[in-house]
Amino acid sequence: MSLRIGMIGVGVMGTAHCDTIVHHVSGAELVAVSDADSARAARLAQELDGTRTHDDPYALIRDPEVDAVVIASSDETHLEFVLACLSAEKNVLCEKPLAPTAEASLAVVEAEAELGRRLVQIAFMRRFDAGYLAVKERLDAGSIGAPLLVHCAHRNKSVPASFTTEMLFTSSVTHEVDITRWFVDREIVSATVFTPRSTRLAQNGVRDPQLVMLESEDGVLVDVEVFVNAQYGYDIRCEVVGESGTLTLPPPVDVFVRHEGHDGRRINPDFRARFRPAYRDQFQTWTDAVRRRGGPAGPSAWDGYAAAAVVDACVESLHSGRRAEVRLAPRPELYAPAAGAVVTAG
Ligand SMILES: NC(=O)c1ccc[n+]([C@@H]2O[C@H](COP(=O)([O-])OP(=O)(O)OC[C@H]3O[C@@H](n4cnc5c(N)ncnc54)[C@H](O)[C@@H]3O)[C@@H](O)[C@H]2O)c1
Repeated sequence: MSLRIGMIGVGVMGTAHCDTIVHHVSGAELVAVSDADSARAARLAQELDGTRTHDDPYALIRDPEVDAVVIASSDETHLEFVLACLSAEKNVLCEKPLAPTAEASLAVVEAEAELGRRLVQIAFMRRFDAGYLAVKERLDAGSIGAPLLVHCAHRNKSVPASFTTEMLFTSSVTHEVDITRWFVDREIVSATVFTPRSTRLAQNGVRDPQLVMLESEDGVLVDVEVFVNAQYGYDIRCEVVGESGTLTLPPPVDVFVRHEGHDGRRINPDFRARFRPAYRDQFQTWTDAVRRRGGPAGPSAWDGYAAAAVVDACVESLHSGRRAEVRLAPRPELYAPAAGAVVTAG
């Protein structure tokens, strides 16, 4: 039987996720949608034959014909919806962030640990990107020895006028935090933010770009340039420097075009185009895991909480101008790291 999915929030991401589930995921069926804007939900349901709407998102969560829930509503709504899914003992794939702060995210970790089984997956979709997976595979195989440094860049063409300086960390750097925690298989213990001269093209006084230095518990240093008004396109870079070599995130597959005196490749306009295959693989892997094993196979509530704790430290450092320590609660047994992790130095 296919996995019957209910979607809460059908704005930009939720609508794209509905399309992914309906057209690109096997073994899944989109059965219900809910949005605070009920007319928007009704329009989408009409386009997607056989999908019904719930005005009340909690009614969608309780619906006996919904096996699993995807949360793609606004950031501040995630926490209560995820907790309601746990009360209903339903699998839930929640867009990042799990909650606005680490302290709030911890409530999910505690509720899930109390339940004693994993039902929550966080939509850190980069873990399903073919390029990041290839780097991770080589790193875990010991191809470059122990990792020492990670260099990352996160550049957006532009962002909406509502984007704040803090969102460079809460919305953007959170992905680099998750990826580097996953790569080095260690927690990040500190963050130091450096604010260079800003671009004149940022709106409303946003300080853009920013540079953050993260430190893992075993001494790996990670630098992340985040620049959300870079103008030329959406450009994500990552290089891991190890004891005996480097691993570089490959650029997305595209054709080289030589035309009118130019030689080059297209640059993706935004994250949806850049990570489209990763979103698909995220949903396919989640669907398969929930159907076969009854639980998720991807970033956990702990990963969502730990990323939020690092982001909190970034924001603290942004305001204080000093190194900020990451404060993490003890990790419950439910989230014990898997055996056979990366080669470590020393
Ligand atoms: N993983 C990624 O790469 C990625 C990228 C962009 C956005 N996101 C996250 O996805 C989420 C959605 O982002 P978006 O760009 O689609 O935003 P959006 O504003 O386009 O859509 C949000 C939708 O949620 C609805 N909503 C708000 N409160 C609600 C409530 N209480 N109940 C039901 N619906 C409610 C709104 O009406 C709107 O339709 C955000 O949490 C965002 O941070 C993740």
